Parts: sequence; structure tokens; C-alpha cells
Amino acid sequence: MSLPERVRVVEVGPRDGLQNEKQPISLQAKLELVNDLTETGLDYIEVGSFVSPKWVPQMAGSLDLFLKINKRAGITYSALTPNMKGFEAALEAGVKEIAVFAAASESFSQRNINCSIAESLKRFEPVMDAAKQHGMTVRGYVSCVLGCPYDGSISSQQVSYVARDLFEMGCREVSLGDTIGVGTPGPARTLIDTVSRDVPRQQLAVHFHDTYGQALANIYATLLEGISVIDSSVAGLGGCPYAAGASGNVATEDVLYMLNGLGIQTDVDLPRLIEAGQRICKVLGRENGSRVAKALC
Ligand code: HMG
Ligand code: MG
Repeated sequence: MSLPERVRVVEVGPRDGLQNEKQPISLQAKLELVNDLTETGLDYIEVGSFVSPKWVPQMAGSLDLFLKINKRAGITYSALTPNMKGFEAALEAGVKEIAVFAAASESFSQRNINCSIAESLKRFEPVMDAAKQHGMTVRGYVSCVLGCPYDGSISSQQVSYVARDLFEMGCREVSLGDTIGVGTPGPARTLIDTVSRDVPRQQLAVHFHDTYGQALANIYATLLEGISVIDSSVAGLGGCPYAAGASGNVATEDVLYMLNGLGIQTDVDLPRLIEAGQRICKVLGRENGSRVAKALC
């Protein structure tokens, strides 16, 4: 299969990136980040989560954040909603696309959302119905697609069952998450080959954390498998609160640099994105996780 001409970048930094920060983050800092990202040409920004603040304190305040963003037409501002309580908050915030999140591993499902995989899918049913009723679209996530911090290896077939259920339930796209960043290009290709028998490749996205430094290689491998939607996080922010040691997502700047080199179109302005990454890193007092940003700044 040849490389795609165009790739859609899903910026998850404000959610996946910030959810794992240890220090408190002000609403103002989050707002500046989302507004900065709005100026980069990205057309998809995952802004926050409507989850329990006891479980993920950094995502408290997502409602306020949504109401204050300088929204721009043509950009999707999305949020995670694990249940109906989350959905109601998303509705109040005027969110147009929500995301439900399941796992391919039972142990991770329990630790992350306090229920089994089957229970989580059941819990999403009313959320899907309500979204449809309100004209909202839904993205689905499957976590631990190339390994679980508790259960170890995960079969591609198991991932495929969960992805298929989400797709059949009405998710317009299913993002496959290598939550702990253990995957390598061979298994990543096998994963897409297997899952695409149940969910069309055009409806699949990849979401690589970069713990083992394999994310760009994995992305390249999955581009060759017909994937054209990539999740990434500005400045490589983040990790996962329920996956100890997991580092942030692959940095959006690094993905863009690679895509530019491959001649693949994205319409995202790399220098502007680097500025946004530098700014949030300064606010957080953390090192920029993007190799490209480090090289160019
Ligand atoms: P639970 O404790 O089983 O929920 O948590 P519950 O229904 O029994 O409710 C307990 C309390 O939580 C109640 O409050 C509820 O009101 C409240 P209390 O009466 O004790 O004061 N509650 C909520 N509050 C706000 N918003 C809500 C909500 N729901 C219940 N939506 C629950 C179940 C799912 C809520 C919990 O486990 C949770 O919030 N988990 C958060 C998980 C999370 O955000 N994880 C990180 C995102 S996933 C990820 O990072 C992976 C991904 O990036 C892909 C990848 O990398 O693989 C997507
Ligand atoms: Mg993630």
C-alpha cells in the first residue's frame, strides 16, 4: 500500500497531555494553549474530559474551558465522556464531538474506568443514543492495543473485537491507543491488518505514546497500512494516570516534520505549533518533549 497524500492530525495535548501533569494547571494556561493551537491550522483539538475530578483532577474545569475558548469554524473541539454524567456536562459545554474510551485489556479497563470491558460498552450505549439525539458525533478509543501495564501482551484479535463493537455502536472513527508506548513497527502493522478486517482503515486512527521511542517508526508503519489519522500531543506532553511510567504521546511537531519530509499534506503550520509548545512548556516549567522543537529553538 502507498503512503496517503493527506493526513489528519488530532491534537490531544490539552487532554492527554495535561491530564497527567502533577502540578495544578490554571484555567488561563489551558485556555492559552487551546487558543494557541487554534491558530496553527489544526482542525481537531481534544480539549478536555468530563470525568470524575477525584480520578483525574487536572481535567476538572473542562466545562469552563469549553465555554471560554475562542472557537474557530472548521475546527472540532472534542472531549472525553465515559458515561451519561460526562455526556450531560459535554452537552452543557456545547461540545459537538465526544469520545468514549474502552480498553483491549480487562485490568486496564478496571483501573481506568472502574468496570469491565463489557460493562464499559454497555455504559456507552445510552451515551451513543443521546449523542445521536443531539446531533453530536462520537469518536471511540481502544487502549492498550499493543500491550498492557498489568496484563502484558494483548492479541490484535482482542483489539479488533472491541474496535468493531465501538464502530458498530456508531463511533465515526476508532483510535487505537498504544497507551504505554511498547509497540514496534511489525506488531503495529499486524494490528492494522487485523483490525481493518472489522473496521475500515479510513475509520481508524493511531494513538502512540512514545515511552520506548518507537512512535514515529510505528506511525510510518501504519501509514504504509493505509492509516491517515494520527493522534499526537504538542511538545509531547502527557502520559496516562493509570499506566505508571507511560510517557507522553508522540510530539505533534515531530509528526509534522516527518509528514512534511514525506510530502504528505496536513495544512498545519509547524513554526506556529512550535511556538505553542514552547509557551506551554514554559508555563509548566517542563522540558519540551519534541525533538524537532529542541532542534529548531
Ligand atoms: P466510578 O467511581 O465507578 O463512578 O468511576 P460512579 O458512577 O460510581 O460515581 C462515583 C463518583 O464519581 C460520584 O460522585 C459521581 O457523581 C462521580 P460522588 O457521589 O462520590 O461525589 N462521577 C463523575 N463526576 C464527574 N464526571 C463524570 C462522573 N461520573 C461519575 N463523568 C468513572 C467511573 C468512569 C467516572 C471514573 O473511573 C473516571 O472518571 N475515570 C477517569 C478515567 C480517565 O479519564 N482516564 C484517562 C483518560 S483515558 C486515556 O488516557 C487513554 C487514551 O489516551 C488512549 C490511550 O492512550 O490508550 C484515551
Ligand atoms: Mg493516550
